Amino acid sequence: MKLKTVELREFRNIQHSFIELGHGINTFVGKNGQGKTSLLEAIHLLGNLRSFRESDLSVLIRQGAEATQVHGVFDTDGLRSDLRVELGKPRGRLEKRASVNGKLARSSADYFSQKLAHPAIQFHTVALNPSSTELIHGEPSLRRRMLNQMLSAFDSEGLSVLTQVQRVIDHKSALLKEPNPDSELLHILNLQLIQLGAEVRQKRLFLLMKIAPIFQHFLGIIAPNQRVPKLGLKAPYLIQMTGHFDLPSVQDLEDQLHAQLAEKSGLERIRQTALVGPHRDDLVFSVDGPGDLSLAEVGSQGEIRSALLALKLAEIELFRKETPIRPVFLIDDFSSELDEDRRNTLLNYLNQSDLQVFVSSTEDFPFAARKFQVVEGEIV
Ligand SMILES: Nc1ncnc2c1ncn2[C@@H]1O[C@H](COP(=O)(O)OP(=O)(O)O)[C@@H](O)[C@H]1O
Ligand SMILES: [Mg+2]
Repeated sequence: MKLKTVELREFRNIQHSFIELGHGINTFVGKNGQGKTSLLEAIHLLGNLRSFRESDLSVLIRQGAEATQVHGVFDTDGLRSDLRVELGKPRGRLEKRASVNGKLARSSADYFSQKLAHPAIQFHTVALNPSSTELIHGEPSLRRRMLNQMLSAFDSEGLSVLTQVQRVIDHKSALLKEPNPDSELLHILNLQLIQLGAEVRQKRLFLLMKIAPIFQHFLGIIAPNQRVPKLGLKAPYLIQMTGHFDLPSVQDLEDQLHAQLAEKSGLERIRQTALVGPHRDDLVFSVDGPGDLSLAEVGSQGEIRSALLALKLAEIELFRKETPIRPVFLIDDFSSELDEDRRNTLLNYLNQSDLQVFVSSTEDFPFAARKFQVVEGEIV
């Protein structure tokens, strides 16, 4: 899979731009405020239907315009395919339309599964940007989202199980808000939650088990002197992933969920919300030491950045090893993200890999297969 061309209309400060992309490293260089991040954000939108810096997508529409459009054309051994995402705000409400090869997707899930399954597309993006450190410092929901995105792309059943379990959780939370929740229905929802939740947890753990050694490997290259944090899933007990580890059976995970639900059932009624389940899980980076501290608590900024980069590279490598997907790597603000040694290590690695990479920077740098200048929303 290769992203051959990208066309943007009315996207942030970019009125119209059509660019032909190269294999390997593509660089976008320009001063601040020119549109570099916007371009990477548009490519990310094509892959994720989300922005990497904004939760409200309506700000992506150029000021004064009605709608924005991102169109990407892919090429795999002569097979041509395309993805299109349009955002509009017809009656003040954001409308998102995504299509694969000219056919409108029924839902985000439909778009994801189609773009991943289509042999000429198989498009997945991994982004590293200044707000990525939030992934370690910020809310658990950010880490869950990352896990979910990975899982959805990695495992064709992943997205479907995640969607189903979320539906059950929403239903249960709504029920708990009623004055007299029907206990029979609550019981049924809990049984579904146990079954689907255990499946989600097992899939998440499987993913972490796979990614942990690759993460360790990359961190060793990027920051050889850094202690390797263990990856773990807090659910709500902590399961450590680095080192020896056996994947728990679905039955074991069901039993645990059952016990957790029983323990918190009273509290759930008082708080009127679902407190137990995979929607409360967290991905943890823990550093050895007294009390097993988390990287967010004890890591220096450099250590956190290195760990993040190692995690992103591990995610890409996992896809390369286990799926036909070749993720596209988006690195925003390259010069501010990493120090010189780490930048060189990264560039060397990327340059030798078969990955398509998009890097934005205020400074020019070597290794680019194709170089673009970004000036006031124009990309040349
Ligand atoms: N919806 C929008 N409409 C018009 N301009 C916008 C919109 N959103 C952001 N901008 C402007 O686009 C410019 C480019 O932003 P950005 O891509 O973040 O720049 P860079 O990454 O090159 O520093 C900024 O000046 C910003 O104010
Ligand atoms: Mg920027």
